[in-house]
Amino acid sequence: MSKIYTVAVIGCGSRGWVYGTEMFNKPDKYKVVAICDIDETRLKNAQQKWGIDDANLFRTEEEFFKEKRADVLILATQDRDHVRMCVRAMELGYDILLEKPISPLYHELIELLEANKKYKRAVVVCHVLRYAPAFVKVKQLLDDGEIGKLIRIESIEQVDYWHQAHSFVRGNWRNDSETSPMIMQKCCHDLDLLQWYVGSRCSTVYSTGDLAFFNKENQPEGASDRCQDCKLINTCPYSAERLYIERWKEQDCPEWGWPFNVVCSTLPNTEEGLRKAYQENQYGRCVFACDNNVVDNQSVDMVFENGVKVSLTMTAFTDKMGRRMCFHGSLGEIELNEPEGTLTVWRFGGEKTVYKTSELVENEKDEFNHGGGDAKLCDSLYAVINDGVVAGTSLESSVESHLMALAAEKSRKENIVVKVHED
Ligand SMILES: NC(=O)c1ccc[n+]([C@@H]2O[C@H](COP(=O)([O-])OP(=O)(O)OC[C@H]3O[C@@H](n4cnc5c(N)ncnc54)[C@H](O)[C@@H]3O)[C@@H](O)[C@H]2O)c1
Repeated sequence: MSKIYTVAVIGCGSRGWVYGTEMFNKPDKYKVVAICDIDETRLKNAQQKWGIDDANLFRTEEEFFKEKRADVLILATQDRDHVRMCVRAMELGYDILLEKPISPLYHELIELLEANKKYKRAVVVCHVLRYAPAFVKVKQLLDDGEIGKLIRIESIEQVDYWHQAHSFVRGNWRNDSETSPMIMQKCCHDLDLLQWYVGSRCSTVYSTGDLAFFNKENQPEGASDRCQDCKLINTCPYSAERLYIERWKEQDCPEWGWPFNVVCSTLPNTEEGLRKAYQENQYGRCVFACDNNVVDNQSVDMVFENGVKVSLTMTAFTDKMGRRMCFHGSLGEIELNEPEGTLTVWRFGGEKTVYKTSELVENEKDEFNHGGGDAKLCDSLYAVINDGVVAGTSLESSVESHLMALAAEKSRKENIVVKVHED
């Protein structure tokens, strides 16, 4: 019989819930035994779901980190808490599944690498797309030489207009002084994938972008600062009524589902509960009257040490969510189109192959969990700690993508080309 590792979760919000539940659903590998959150409702939801004893519920990190509570820690608090908590967890002897971004602060990234050298624990950063089947398939095609020598990648991160409004204008990631710059927050998966595909370190970046739309000067005349008082409540595409009631109804009124469970964490979600929540909390604010400062559009031009060039664009102004990545090689072209659900390979003068990304997913129910990537990441952590297998993504390479993001942000702000490494 295989060893079962005990698991603690700190931060039982959206991501902690996902990974805690993935591990809860793998009873042959993991047993969730302790949880910590400063939000009582989330703590209780997680307790109920995973069946945690009252004695193993913690309401402050100080209490939680007094001693080691389990073998593995899922660390899913906000960006600026990660390194402090991760270093303490390593000190206590946990192996850790760490949510991304690791940290927006350069000195913390270096501190974490140093601490990892000292404590030698497994720290697997949730760069979950490295485990998602469609993205893995692209890597295989590139490595197999299907399109010859890789010359260039053009990649678009389509945030989607409502997701921008929800998370990056009204929500948790609206202000980079509290969390991270947009290029790190939204695109650290993209940057990680790109360096993985190119197979080399990034040498220089040049970036442009700004907060072009979600600010006071674009507020329509006569609009109110809260949606419930606004004459445009039924016509503005960003109104809370449209995003959280109409969209919820269009999706057949899920009792539990993102982003509605973020707007109202009292479950099951109901129309009354959602409306009351947005009328009282941050999600009912006019998108043109928030304390947001993160950009709504940005592009980054990158040159890699092996000569491959990459252009990444992040934009809020899309109708669909998901990535479109085009790989241009000497013998062909690959396009991964997430919203369309297709992966197409053109071989110059030869055949075209179209894969449906849903058919690359092993288990149908995984289509919405990063194509099964969430579950595979948990399996990968198990293989690392139980079998000594090298992780699919090392802490060093996760940090590398963060250095690329920091360089891009510096470039955008100072309008200069920035070297990612000084050496
Ligand atoms: N992998 C991805 O695709 C992905 C997607 C979204 C967010 N994230 C990242 O995951 C992390 C968590 O994001 P989320 O969406 O789950 O946020 P969330 O706000 O839903 O969850 C965070 C939880 O941490 C709790 N918390 C905050 N401070 C705490 C403390 N000191 N001690 C204990 N609990 C504390 C909060 O009450 C909350 O329940 C963030 O770093 C975020 O940037 C990753």
